[in-house]
Amino acid sequence: DGGGHVPAVVIGTGYGAAVAALRLGEAGVETLMLEMGQQWDKPGADGRIFSGMLKPDERSSWFKKRTEAPLGSFLWLDLVNRDITPYAGVLDRVNYDQMSVYVGRGVGGGSLVNGGMAVTPKRSYFEEVLPQVDAAEMYDRYFPRANSTLRVNHIDTKWFEDTEWYKFARVSRDQAGKAGLGTTFVPNVYDWDYMRREAAGEVPKSALATEVIYGNNHGKMSLDKTYLAAALGTGKVTIRTLHKVKAIRRQNDGSYVLSVEETDAYGKTLAAKEISCGHLFLGAGSLGTTELLLRARETGALPDLSSEIGKGWGPNGNVMTARANHMWNPTGAKQSSIPALGIDDWNNPAAPVFAEIAPMPAGLETWVSLYLAITKNPERGTFVYDAAADRADLRWTRDQNAPAVAAAKSLFDRVNKANGTIYRYDLFGTRLKAFADDFCYHPLGGTVLGKATDLYGRVSGYENLYVTDGSLIPGSIGVNPFVTITALAERNVERVIQQDIKKK
Ligand code: FDA
Repeated sequence: DGGGHVPAVVIGTGYGAAVAALRLGEAGVETLMLEMGQQWDKPGADGRIFSGMLKPDERSSWFKKRTEAPLGSFLWLDLVNRDITPYAGVLDRVNYDQMSVYVGRGVGGGSLVNGGMAVTPKRSYFEEVLPQVDAAEMYDRYFPRANSTLRVNHIDTKWFEDTEWYKFARVSRDQAGKAGLGTTFVPNVYDWDYMRREAAGEVPKSALATEVIYGNNHGKMSLDKTYLAAALGTGKVTIRTLHKVKAIRRQNDGSYVLSVEETDAYGKTLAAKEISCGHLFLGAGSLGTTELLLRARETGALPDLSSEIGKGWGPNGNVMTARANHMWNPTGAKQSSIPALGIDDWNNPAAPVFAEIAPMPAGLETWVSLYLAITKNPERGTFVYDAAADRADLRWTRDQNAPAVAAAKSLFDRVNKANGTIYRYDLFGTRLKAFADDFCYHPLGGTVLGKATDLYGRVSGYENLYVTDGSLIPGSIGVNPFVTITALAERNVERVIQQDIKKK
């Protein structure tokens, strides 16, 4: 337990990491997963694993003195956030100078905190973003494999039309329709059948009790219930929690050595370990993987890493916005926390937008329609290593989000015009603001496929070193990204196991 050698290490336990671990385990490779967050399977004193959204406690946030919810205000008042004890909670907000990025921490990574929207990208856009990847192979083989292993399922549309819990989505759909915009149902990894039983009062409520960004106590098939459970089931995979990888170096025999810090849940250091491995897979997410590789390059530990590491980062064009509805058009005091519909205007060449119709489950009527717009913003950021702070800084300016805001505005101006409504200006901080352009949920890139790595995620300059997560995707994918991250990891890991591991 104090260190030692293992054949393969996977850093992180998010989507890309989980795919790598499962397929390595199935191939009979002893694999150790190192995760800086906790395993979320033990109830606290209140009998619940996660704290809710409306009264978050320390379990909600990753080492914060106060929660940092994306919708921090209502009528410009900071009503939502709460003071808490710094703790290894489930949702982190990584604050860079002009962009904040939300990420999940714990066994399952982002799957613990996300909305579960499981969207396969439009094939034409996938081909535009990743032209070197064989799209036929992806759409025939790896997207179906990802969807089935993630247990993606579809809402019963008849129930959707009837239930009070999706009134907010039907109101937004009707208003989009008046502006000539179409909507589409969005598959999810939340068990829709469980949600129907929540609505019927048969099972404990989770999505229908406002749970999502601070974790779902029921209903959601996060990675710990799918890929990671299967990985552990191979008998070859071990997960160590509260283990943060600090640095990577390489020994003369070609093996990698990781410097790892083990802490308790309040951040007290318990041990510093050195773990060595033959094959190393980085699945620490766009921010985590890029930072580890940048540090290795800039400190001289892995000097042959590509100058491309750190480049090609983007927030998937994320912009959040909200509209105020007329008093006679309420969105409902009861709202499921899991989105079910998206406004699909991606084929509009002037301003492609895919906007998820997001709930605002406040437990009371707000007349708000909320959206997370995914736009096609061509701007990219770059990570640079700050030696004094020993961390990666993101070079990204607020005005780089102007194209994303312009696209979202062009769509929602049309919706407002058709319905005689206006934006809400009070939800995104204490000043007048209709578009949240300073945070994102979908960090992508930093170690881009075919640039910092080969076409299968093998890191350029080194053998037996792989990237398997969202950092491979160059900044944009046009829809919520985890299905793409999963499918791409399936494709890459299959090749790596065949060529680099089994043949040796
Ligand atoms: P991911 O971030 O999932 O996992 C990385 C893991 O590595 C984390 O567990 C982290 O703790 C760990 N780690 C990092 N550095 C480490 C280190 N040095 N040592 C050890 N461990 C380390 N997407 C979608 O498709 N549909 C949706 O509905 C949503 N909704 C959504 C809502 C919210 C609130 C958020 C924050 C995000 C979403 N997303 C989403 C985005 C989605 O969750 C995200 O794209 C994926 O989780 C990214 O998967 P990765 O495998 O890249 O890393």
